[in-house]
Amino acid sequence: MNPRRILLIVGGGIAAYKACELVRLIRKGGGEVTCVVTEGGQHFVTPMTLAALSEKPVHTTLWDLKNEAEMGHIQLSREADLVVVCPATADLMAKMAAGIADDLATTLLLATNKPVMAVPAMNVRMWEHPATRRNVARLRDDGVTVLEPDEGPMACGEYGAGRLPEPEAIWQAITRFGSAGGLAANPLAGQPDFAGENHRPLHGRHVLVTAGPTHEPIDPVRYIANRSSGKQGFAIAAAAAAAGAQVTLIAGPVHLETPPGVDRFDVESAVEMLDAVESALPTDIAIMVAAVADWRAAECAGQKIKKDGSGEVPPLSLALNPDILASVAASPARPRLLIGFAAETDDVVSHAQAKRLRKGADWIVANDVSGPPGNSVMGGDDNAVHLVTPDGVEDWPAMPKDRVAAALVERIAAHCMKDDA
Ligand code: C5P
Repeated sequence: MNPRRILLIVGGGIAAYKACELVRLIRKGGGEVTCVVTEGGQHFVTPMTLAALSEKPVHTTLWDLKNEAEMGHIQLSREADLVVVCPATADLMAKMAAGIADDLATTLLLATNKPVMAVPAMNVRMWEHPATRRNVARLRDDGVTVLEPDEGPMACGEYGAGRLPEPEAIWQAITRFGSAGGLAANPLAGQPDFAGENHRPLHGRHVLVTAGPTHEPIDPVRYIANRSSGKQGFAIAAAAAAAGAQVTLIAGPVHLETPPGVDRFDVESAVEMLDAVESALPTDIAIMVAAVADWRAAECAGQKIKKDGSGEVPPLSLALNPDILASVAASPARPRLLIGFAAETDDVVSHAQAKRLRKGADWIVANDVSGPPGNSVMGGDDNAVHLVTPDGVEDWPAMPKDRVAAALVERIAAHCMKDDA
């Protein structure tokens, strides 16, 4: 994977605090980030905060001779793969559009030979002002990717377009620069690009996600479990929420934080998961990522089963669990797009194709979980999957689970757009 180096220019607006979360997400996604803060930006976030989060020196002025001798502003502007301006204030965009270079940030923006993405945030009147409309149009003509701001209540008390998009959505837009900017290869190259007008492509859709393992009780202290960590399902829930969907996440027992904007319901067993899923329906889309136990103890003892000293092992008889995916597929409330996962240890794709038909899912995302217990897929951060649809099979390269999630969500959004047309 190529290094992912982001030069982040933090402008002077109240939304600057969200740049801190963006730095964290870039780092978490395996990227490197170097921050430049304008004078205005420093009224909202300190260089110290950004330096601590990025673990790199933060640049604030053109006149820092030490930095100039060691690095130089031209080099700083060119050693990134992508320059991100976040928040891009009305003033900063006006200067960018006019080619003004009167501080470090604007000088870097004029000197760079790398793609530039601007993430605007400002009052709704400022965003709608003809001068800003002109500047945005000019910047887009010049090849700058200007994201659309979100709509909603603003820090100033007004309502409208101008809010900075959520950091998750910005991070996803950054990952889509993929091949063009020297970032990691984007498995969706050639697919519709949602980074422009329509970067919340699942807005108005309700997405149900199941994630994690189930625990099937044997007695009050013992249970049958599996090694699922829930990371892939949580990443998908996060990506769907960042794409604007209403997300209901039904989670088995995992140690993961609820992603921002996601409604989470915790369950233990397969039977509880089925109940929770049925209560969440109808939804537009369901993505069943949970590693549901196939069997449960036929009877759960009311008290801890004791060794009786005879050396005999107690009998453990199993009962079949409900197949949640198959039952959702057969339900009158079946979502229009139903996606299952398949963890296989051999003949991954052919088993997944058979599973798609047998369970009545539209797509299956298949992965190879062969390898020693605790291998890198079950519990790890990376995943290499095959997307099995009625149109065929795609083999995606190994990548972090949150990038698999982002890629899958883009696929889903593209499918929904086609479906609507
Ligand atoms: O049969 P298998 O466990 O390989 O199927 C995997 C797919 O089916 C996953 O999408 C999983 O969430 C779903 N599943 C389910 N209920 C089960 C077993 C699997 O929903 N009892």
